[in-house]
Amino acid sequence: MGLCLAASVIVGLQFGDEGKGKITDFFAGQSDIVARYNGGNNAGHTVVANGKEYKFHLMPSGLAHGKKCFIGAGTVIDPGVLIKEMESFGKKNIDLVIDPRAQIIMPWHGLLDMASEKNKGANKIGTTGRGIGPCYSDCAARTGIRFADLIDEKRLHKKIKACFELNKKILEKVYEMDLGNDFSEEKIFGEYAKMGKVLGEFCGDVSLEISRAILAKKEVLLEGAQGTFLDNSFGTYPFVTSSHPTAGAALVGIGLGAKAIDKVIGVAKAYTTRVGEGPFVTELKSELGDRIRKQGNEFGTTTGRPRRVGWLDLVLLRTANRLNGTDKIALTKIDVLSGLEKLKICTEYELGGKKINEVPADAERIFECSPVFKEFHGFKISGTEKSFEELDKNAREYIGFIEKELDTKIFLVSIGAERNQTILR
Ligand code: GDP
Ligand code: IMO
Ligand code: MG
Repeated sequence: MGLCLAASVIVGLQFGDEGKGKITDFFAGQSDIVARYNGGNNAGHTVVANGKEYKFHLMPSGLAHGKKCFIGAGTVIDPGVLIKEMESFGKKNIDLVIDPRAQIIMPWHGLLDMASEKNKGANKIGTTGRGIGPCYSDCAARTGIRFADLIDEKRLHKKIKACFELNKKILEKVYEMDLGNDFSEEKIFGEYAKMGKVLGEFCGDVSLEISRAILAKKEVLLEGAQGTFLDNSFGTYPFVTSSHPTAGAALVGIGLGAKAIDKVIGVAKAYTTRVGEGPFVTELKSELGDRIRKQGNEFGTTTGRPRRVGWLDLVLLRTANRLNGTDKIALTKIDVLSGLEKLKICTEYELGGKKINEVPADAERIFECSPVFKEFHGFKISGTEKSFEELDKNAREYIGFIEKELDTKIFLVSIGAERNQTILR
């Protein structure tokens, strides 16, 4: 099926790890361009195609199809991680453009991230420790180092000089960290300048190139990282990431006009997971939760941490659909629920004696919400079904209920990690 679109956004509707990588790969085959617009290597997107597993952290998932890939201005790049990822594919096989405006994650960002988490103690966010927050903080404070700086040795030297001492002081004097001899200005400059040389040839104006591609009626796929409820403004603040994963942010993260996107594909897992701290209304802290975690192999791609698991939450999805302007939903991992006797879907929250059907704007209040559930009969899915009609009747009922409650079409059902375990309706 061709998407027949200009630019489509693929966005996570929950807390990340919904299967955006798999869905991006599925449509990448018919696209000309795949681009990342937010986040950094806090993301972990897994694609399984013809028995081969690809794990992407910074590279867009279109790479499994060998498509032209873009990394936009709204991202944060750890150059060491990017180079390793590129090497694993072989440089010759990569057609990549990196925007000069993208921010660079420096060694102090990772250290500040971890020090700040330690300092928060029990109130920690549970970040991936990749320096994402401190890097975006520098961006907002206008003290960041951008990709254009990384690839220009003279400028890089000047930029590092301007911020090294302050960051060192903060780490040593405020966080009382022992930095050792490796943490020297010249050493960091040397390493980064070397990486800048490797990456220089990939620099290009992503905003301009993608705008032109859209005008030329190319099929452009914008791949979100993280998920709606990790959005820095609209997620469960402060338990969020530091970028904006929501669909509107794709425009800013690439640098496109407000009308450039004409399809928003929301990706939702058939249940809910979350890595890190923060409210989780439908969480299953039980053996059943352990069973779903095991069946779904819910362990983080990036940090290996066990993901918290819970029932599907339609309050989250309703709000996510509104925030993203979702046109249609790709429902993933329904096979993981196969064999459970009974299933639950949360339709509303109870808050202060009242029922509500959207996530409270004051995120702190989510902790006070309790779920209102509807129960469903279990179903069996083998992963070999080829059409929607072939799916177990109870699974079709489960899917139909979600569609009706959300008034949004589930146009794709994913029944396994493999590229071909995908049912289009
Ligand atoms: P992303 O961050 O949204 O791209 O999601 P992740 O890749 O971090 O996590 C999704 C995991 O589930 C990956 O290991 C996928 O290979 C796998 N996956 C995706 N879709 C399905 C599905 O329908 N069924 C099963 N069993 N696994 C899936
Ligand atoms: P993908 O793209 C799931 C979570 C972290 C933490 C919070 C802040 O694979 O869906 P950060 O390191 O970003 O400052 O951490 O956000 N988080 C993710 N959870 N999937 C992700 O990415 C995530 N990226 C960040 O666990 O709770
Ligand atoms: Mg992931």
